[in-house]
Amino acid sequence: MRFSLSGFLIATAFALDFVEEDFLGARTNHNKRVAYTALRIGEKLNFKKEQLNDLVSYAILHDNGISEYVTNKLTRVSRENSENIIEHCIIGENNIKAYPFFDIEKNVIKYHHENYDGTGLYGIKGEDIPIKAQIIRFCDFIDNNFYLDKMCGDYRTEAIKEIKKEKGKLFSGEICDAFFEIIEGADYRLDIENEYIDLSLRRKIPKFYFDFMLEDIYEITSVFSNIIDCKSRFTKNHSAELAKKTSIMSDYYHYNSDTKIKLTIAATLHDLGKLAIPNNILDSPRKLTPYEFSIIEAHTYYTRVALSEIEGFEEITEWASNHHEKLNGNGYPYRKKAADLDFNSRLMGCLDIYQALTEQRSYRDSLDHESTMKIMNTMASEGYIDSEIVDDINIIFKK
Ligand SMILES: [Fe+2]
Ligand SMILES: [Fe+2]
Ligand SMILES: [Fe+2]
Ligand SMILES: [Fe+2]
Repeated sequence: MRFSLSGFLIATAFALDFVEEDFLGARTNHNKRVAYTALRIGEKLNFKKEQLNDLVSYAILHDNGISEYVTNKLTRVSRENSENIIEHCIIGENNIKAYPFFDIEKNVIKYHHENYDGTGLYGIKGEDIPIKAQIIRFCDFIDNNFYLDKMCGDYRTEAIKEIKKEKGKLFSGEICDAFFEIIEGADYRLDIENEYIDLSLRRKIPKFYFDFMLEDIYEITSVFSNIIDCKSRFTKNHSAELAKKTSIMSDYYHYNSDTKIKLTIAATLHDLGKLAIPNNILDSPRKLTPYEFSIIEAHTYYTRVALSEIEGFEEITEWASNHHEKLNGNGYPYRKKAADLDFNSRLMGCLDIYQALTEQRSYRDSLDHESTMKIMNTMASEGYIDSEIVDDINIIFKK
């Protein structure tokens, strides 16, 4: 399948922005600003197109380990606190093993909090820190402390003064000088404004297309599944288990291998949009208020927004983001009806319900097969879900 690497990168940026939204209550585009600035610095340092692609990818992914780290802790940890904890660097480094970099480089994420003079989290010094990690450290630090989108007037003079103080200490001279050159132009500050950062990144990201086997694409998308499933301790393994079930049902329906893999990818990514939903709503032990439910409803919309960036993912996007639509029009977010929902969208919806009911939640224990089927049969008889699929699920998953 023709696979657009830049599209995938944009989808990744969306997904990681969602995590940011959950932490801060608002999307600030921090990951995108860091990525865009890193790219501009990479250009100044004469990076080749492939190296630039990798640099932007690492920059977008730099804090991918935060969500898993915070979920592993049972209490809430603020973003600032988790930023200074080594675990998010280790988790982040491990999560991206399957990511399609041109040149897989060790320790870029692991060392993204190292200082040039060796005073960072691991105490690595100077050129022992991979150059991409150094650039990300610089952009991350400047954005967190001086706001990259405010580089003009007195504010810029002040920032330059501060950065000069750190030149050779926290950061290498070469990176500081590249940044000073970049912020001389008004284009940089304008490109990076909230309204334009998306467009700027799309314009600048190197365009690459590959012919990949669907199996390889599945491997690549597994980068997301870990980040998604670690979002909440109640839904750990949810997407992975759903993927196993879609694969079993694909065999039952004698699907060819391409359709089976596409369906598995859709299952892996179906709850991608949950990254944007705060855990206190996702894990709420009580009934949700109508307002809270409207926030939950957004998750499949966000799944669609992110996945539709990836060329070649059209069917996968449909099957993944229709999973809460219902045949009678009572689903969400589009209130689609039977005629709009193809067989695999219906299948995904049914299997998601089966998977969710058989898992433990904050407000109830897991249900056994019989109790789950009872609920699903009622839903089918009331016109919510496909009764034939419900019968097939009963045949296949009955112990
Ligand atoms: Fe970090
Ligand atoms: Fe950051
Ligand atoms: Fe969902
Ligand atoms: Fe789900």
